[in-house]
Amino acid sequence: MKDLRAVRGMQDLYGLDSYQWNLVESKIKKLFADFGYQEIRTPTLEKKEVFSDSVGGDTDIVQKQMYQVQGDSEETLVLRPEGTAGFMRAFLEHRLYESNRPERFYYYLPMFRHERPQKGRLRQFHQFGAELLLDPTPEADAEIIYFLHHLYQFLGVQEYQIKVNNVGTPQTREAYKTNLREYLKERWDDLCDLCKSRFERSVLRVLDCKNEKCQALVQKAPSILESLDEECRKHLAGVEKRLTHLNVPYEIDPLIVRGLDYYQKTTFEFTSSLLGAQSALTGGGRYDGLSTRFGGKPYPAVGFGLGMERLMLVLQTKQLLPSALEGPFVLLAPLGEAALDYLFPVAFQLKAQGINCHLAYESKNLKQSLKLADKLQATYTLMVGDDELAQKKAILKRMTDGTQETLSLTDIQEEILRRSSK
Ligand code: HAM
Repeated sequence: MKDLRAVRGMQDLYGLDSYQWNLVESKIKKLFADFGYQEIRTPTLEKKEVFSDSVGGDTDIVQKQMYQVQGDSEETLVLRPEGTAGFMRAFLEHRLYESNRPERFYYYLPMFRHERPQKGRLRQFHQFGAELLLDPTPEADAEIIYFLHHLYQFLGVQEYQIKVNNVGTPQTREAYKTNLREYLKERWDDLCDLCKSRFERSVLRVLDCKNEKCQALVQKAPSILESLDEECRKHLAGVEKRLTHLNVPYEIDPLIVRGLDYYQKTTFEFTSSLLGAQSALTGGGRYDGLSTRFGGKPYPAVGFGLGMERLMLVLQTKQLLPSALEGPFVLLAPLGEAALDYLFPVAFQLKAQGINCHLAYESKNLKQSLKLADKLQATYTLMVGDDELAQKKAILKRMTDGTQETLSLTDIQEEILRRSSK
């Protein structure tokens, strides 16, 4: 037998799950609109260099997590592992910088990373991302962090920590890396094998290694904050001032260096104890230098990526999602052929007027129709049989408490519409 199940780490989404996702997605899209962000959708496939030249050749994403696809001739395409690089490619391609004023974009797109799947970690996952361009101020960073804080609060989630850092400029970071290497070299035997292999090419990743011994080491390591120049220090102070202004609870954590190379100055993460080992709800930061890696001028930029699967896990744990699909407002129960003839066009007229109704032509009798109304969680059931037709009447039953009333057959659409708009 062929194994045609879904690819490992990739999920089908349907029924109640899809209903819950849609509710959350539409709330988030509304927030983006309220905060003045317009949507951008970039293609799923990009040229490999879009990521290798920007996310960084030594990062895990580029080294081992990208899905490759053979493009035309020699070109290699990859499935998008993250949103920022493709966004910057589009920003430059469409010369969006020509507006000379801050530009706010958001995206909601699937991402693909060949990682080891576990709770909250998939190979196809979905990110809401925001990118705020052409604004170099600390206020822009605070806006991005405030937006997320507001978003989680708005959705009813309070269980998260906001960790903020400043990773300096490429120049200050090189000096810091040299310091860090010197410190770690003297403690070489305490480093895990992975960190030993990271030592030359990506020593900053040692700072967020999960290994206990490495964690103990980095607690006492020189702090990246001590290596900052005057401008970065001022920028960090500005971000702190504005976050305090907006009552955003945050802590400074010099270990938030992030696994992508394009960040400068501000970096941040939202983590939640309600998630397991994969505790990062959102990550982001400033990436003023990224456009130059594409051959463009330097354009100031700051943004975040929010994992939808992890957000949904938190909302599920907190029981903040509806536990059933929304049922029809009214189930129309025709009892006999003549009643079906009468109700068939009525059902479609109601649908056309925005009423979620279900015509139970599959039910054989009243008992089956009422059972179906319960199963679908209909608010009302409208019953019409031969007797009712003869008397030009219909019976409307409210399913929550069983109360019944008799309506004039000619008024049923009006009566249902009136009840639905209450
Ligand atoms: P990132 O930290 O790689 O940043 O990903 C952002 C978020 O995506 C994570 O905090 C997590 O919630 C979710 N995520 C990442 N990998 C997985 C996975 N395998 N399964 C499920 N969820 C995952 C970025 O991608 C940057 N582009 C963010 C950014 C935008 N920075 C500036 N602008």
